[in-house]
Amino acid sequence: MTYDPARGSWLLTTPRTRYVIREDPDGSPRHVAWGTHEAVEASPRPALTNSFDGDGTADELGIETGARFGPAGLQIRFADGTRGAQWGRAGHEIDGGHLVIALHDRRYPLRAELHYRVRPDTDVIERWTVLINDGGEPVTVGRADSAAWTLPPLADYRMSHLVGTWNQEFQLRRTPVPVAETVFTSRRGLTSHHANPWLAVDDGTAEEDRGAVWSAALAWSGSWRIALHRDPTDRVTFTGGLGHEGLSWTLGPGQSLQTPVFAGVHTVDGFGGATRAWHDYLRRYVIPTPAEDRPVVYNSWEATGFAVDEAGQLRLAEAAAQLGVELFVLDDGWFGGRRDDTAGLGDWQPYQGAFPQGLGPLVEKVHQLGMRFGLWVEPEMVNADSDLYRAHPDWVLHTPSRDATELRQQLMLDHGRPEVERWAHQWLDRLVRDNGIDFLKWDANRAVTDAGRPGHPDPDRLWIDHTRAVYRIMDRLRTDHPHLRIEACAGGGGRADAGVLARTDQIWTSDNTDPVDRLGIQHGFSQYFPAQVMAAWITDSPNIATGRSTPLRFRFHVSMAGALGIGGKLTEWSKEELTEAADLVATYKRIRSVVQHGVLHRPTTEGHTTAVHYASADGDEHVVIAWRPQTGAGLPNPVVRLTALDGDAEYYDVDRDVRISGATARAGLALELPEGDYASTVLHLRRG
Ligand code: DGJ
Repeated sequence: MTYDPARGSWLLTTPRTRYVIREDPDGSPRHVAWGTHEAVEASPRPALTNSFDGDGTADELGIETGARFGPAGLQIRFADGTRGAQWGRAGHEIDGGHLVIALHDRRYPLRAELHYRVRPDTDVIERWTVLINDGGEPVTVGRADSAAWTLPPLADYRMSHLVGTWNQEFQLRRTPVPVAETVFTSRRGLTSHHANPWLAVDDGTAEEDRGAVWSAALAWSGSWRIALHRDPTDRVTFTGGLGHEGLSWTLGPGQSLQTPVFAGVHTVDGFGGATRAWHDYLRRYVIPTPAEDRPVVYNSWEATGFAVDEAGQLRLAEAAAQLGVELFVLDDGWFGGRRDDTAGLGDWQPYQGAFPQGLGPLVEKVHQLGMRFGLWVEPEMVNADSDLYRAHPDWVLHTPSRDATELRQQLMLDHGRPEVERWAHQWLDRLVRDNGIDFLKWDANRAVTDAGRPGHPDPDRLWIDHTRAVYRIMDRLRTDHPHLRIEACAGGGGRADAGVLARTDQIWTSDNTDPVDRLGIQHGFSQYFPAQVMAAWITDSPNIATGRSTPLRFRFHVSMAGALGIGGKLTEWSKEELTEAADLVATYKRIRSVVQHGVLHRPTTEGHTTAVHYASADGDEHVVIAWRPQTGAGLPNPVVRLTALDGDAEYYDVDRDVRISGATARAGLALELPEGDYASTVLHLRRG
């Protein structure tokens, strides 16, 4: 990280990329280049075009002052009605890999800091912004984005992003970037199932392992917005940060606002290269327990729904232990008056009728069976039919003059209120401490509506405060209970981002456990998130969401590409199924460290087959999982090309007791798939 005073420019260097910023004569930090070392060296300095189209550079954080017409990442209004900022000469501070460009408005006592962090072992650049009001008057903030990312001139532009719905999260879409402003957003107070704050842009020719890709992801679990602007002169910039459009916050005298990290990465190794860079970064710098193997989970939700009791859960736990399960999770329905989703949320004492002596005896027996004990909680929500709501109707987000919107018969607690945060932390802390809980599945089954906080002088603050309070509670629980692990869940994959991942160990990917649907969901999820955090259960057949029947082996093989879990009615499985399942769990444990800690490749395949390839960091061990959901007459034989293997090496196929040359596997390996639909296989190779 260096500053060149002659040019007034900053140079950020990562192992394979460079990023250049310069200070404009008007004091604004402007983007100059972002690319490989060679590309940045060769990139010409932008020249002035004309008075309408500017000089081809973009602001590092767009402002609403002067001849700027793109989406502004910083939208502020001073007490006298003046909008935007005019920066004086920038200061800066460089501390190792951390650069702070310090800006101050020429006329108003407002400062902004643009933060950049680079590290020696990743090409990911972290960016965030801090706004500071040094004056005596409030400043209204309409947007405070974390960063704007600008692409170099390319022949064309294409965007990859993730869309979805409940039960169909993380669908990867790849489409040309229109000459327009494209907005990716969540207005739901959660990251959302519908759009994920991850984006990749290329020139339309990148492939899995080849081609230049620029990607960015926002670490925030509330509402967010990323605006991608391709202007008619073909400049592309995207600005992103917390909050959706139309909100505003007051930055009172002496107050400051720090935004979440919006990280970016550039690679010339295609979409796979971007994936690998993200996985590596998340493991090194975000996920709290990256070195740990994720345990094989049993979760009772699909088996028992709300009908949970001690004896029934114990029967499932005994069956799960026989299969090799390591963590037993009791899902919804264990507390208060919660016999279905209409009542009881908020009353976090075990339901006496189902757990007469509390959770203690079940936890103890699960521990005796050699498993850890996990529990479902939904601390941000309340049913109107609950003692909590009757005692504190004012604790929910609401607008007194409007009808309340119930979703799944529940309302949302305003964790931005200190008393609500205190209450949630206290009962969670006690629950974990008193019952020996090892794992929490932290769920959130509705979006924010009726976003009011009566009496609060700055009501839109709730969109920030709520998420921050949730983060704080998770952080405190982790600090006070170092053994505790947490799963992020919001009706499936509605809260998946680096913000929540910094304080959780895995993400419940989707409520849809149909293995065929899961292939698409997992493909999208894996663009950014590593397998280690991708919770994937195998459940009963036919599947409850789709009615599709699939073989046990296929269901397992799909889930074995992530953090394996089981969620079926084990007490109704046949002896043969239980034996096969135990074998598959044992196989998973053998390949687990490669799947969970390895490097992901997506090899090319033929014959209606798709595959993932995980390679250990040292390249000595490899796991390939291949699936063919549907067969067809006259299809080419299923073949996988393992181009990530060393062409000069020999590999030992652990299950088939044969040797394979790396050169053959690179050229194309015939897969031994069973006949028919839902065929799948696992290949476990060791070098030598
Ligand atoms: C939604 C989750 O995604 C499910 O796995 C389950 O925990 C239910 N909520 C329980 O209400």
